[in-house]
Amino acid sequence: MTTLDANPAFTQRVFSGIKPSGGLTLGNYLGAIKPWVNMQGPDFETIYCVVDLHAITVWQDPKELRAATHEVVAAMIASGIDPDSSVVFNQSQVAAHAQLGWIFNCVARVGWMNRMTQFKDKAGKNAEQVSLGLYAYPALMAADILAYHATHVPVGEDQKQHVELTRDIAAKFNHDFGVDFFPKTNPVIEGPAMRVMNLRDGSKKMSKSGESDMERINMLDTAELIAKKFKKARTDPAALPDNLEDLKGRAEARNLVDIYAGLSGTTPEAVIAEYAGAGWGQFKPALADLAVAKLAPISDEMRRLMADPAELDQILGKGADKAEAISRPILDQVYDIVGLVRSR
Ligand code: TYM
Repeated sequence: MTTLDANPAFTQRVFSGIKPSGGLTLGNYLGAIKPWVNMQGPDFETIYCVVDLHAITVWQDPKELRAATHEVVAAMIASGIDPDSSVVFNQSQVAAHAQLGWIFNCVARVGWMNRMTQFKDKAGKNAEQVSLGLYAYPALMAADILAYHATHVPVGEDQKQHVELTRDIAAKFNHDFGVDFFPKTNPVIEGPAMRVMNLRDGSKKMSKSGESDMERINMLDTAELIAKKFKKARTDPAALPDNLEDLKGRAEARNLVDIYAGLSGTTPEAVIAEYAGAGWGQFKPALADLAVAKLAPISDEMRRLMADPAELDQILGKGADKAEAISRPILDQVYDIVGLVRSR
């Protein structure tokens, strides 16, 4: 009755999202957008969302929110997401997210939310002053995923706990109502660069909101700036070793090797094999050249797409229609299961 495993009725469906809050980083590209592109194809139905309702859990200037939404959709398309074969839309245009989010607020337990490390990091000592939305955020994220009965969620390492919570919410809903309705969602966290670190401090994640712009590579950075940021990236005096074991305790060095592997589509082992014994004077320029070769065509295309926001809005609108068609019947069934009267 309450098993979540492998119900053959569920299609293989991918859902993932990015917040439009500040510029996109190399972490977003390697941890999310690149794997999303690779999941398109015959094996999965793919749904990719600009999660604007998540962005407003912290203050967003309305004009900048609109621009950031356009930047995210431009980045997806410029990176190879095809809006004709994937569903590409922004969250606020499909009401099922907020509606199911409320129901999940009533399923999830306060104790579960209290364990969310991202909330603790973001709220810090200021927990009494942050929005209620920031606290409830993981329940909305579960709704994003489960409104589509998504089975696979490709994310960076930092989102793993939220995807696990999604499974707990699905299991509790199924158990409480005695149904086998929501599938068991699998986080897909594969590849060498699922946790891209800050270029100035290898113990911190590369994020959109770090203190200094030198900590991160932005998808829209120029070639000169990318080269400068890698040149100034913190490292240690030792050369690259000939095996990965010897990178233990050298977080910054390991991060640059992982980024190289992520960008080139190889493994950290292969990078070490190629650069064993190399100093930073050799490795950093090679990494900068590789990053520019991969990112420049994408950022050029992003700029071109962002110059025509009406075209991007049209893509989001069409995607929202498709998303609505999938999520509406699922939400209707949830209302019936819960006992909410639908009489029109
Ligand atoms: P967000 O907007 O912070 O990040 C979007 C995606 O980028 C990944 N990512 C990284 N990966 C590797 N290294 C990094 N330094 C790095 N920084 C970010 C994130 O892991 C994520 O996959 N809560 C989510 C958005 C969301 C969502 C969802 C995701 C809302 N609903 C449903 C999946 C399914 C977030 O804030 O991502």
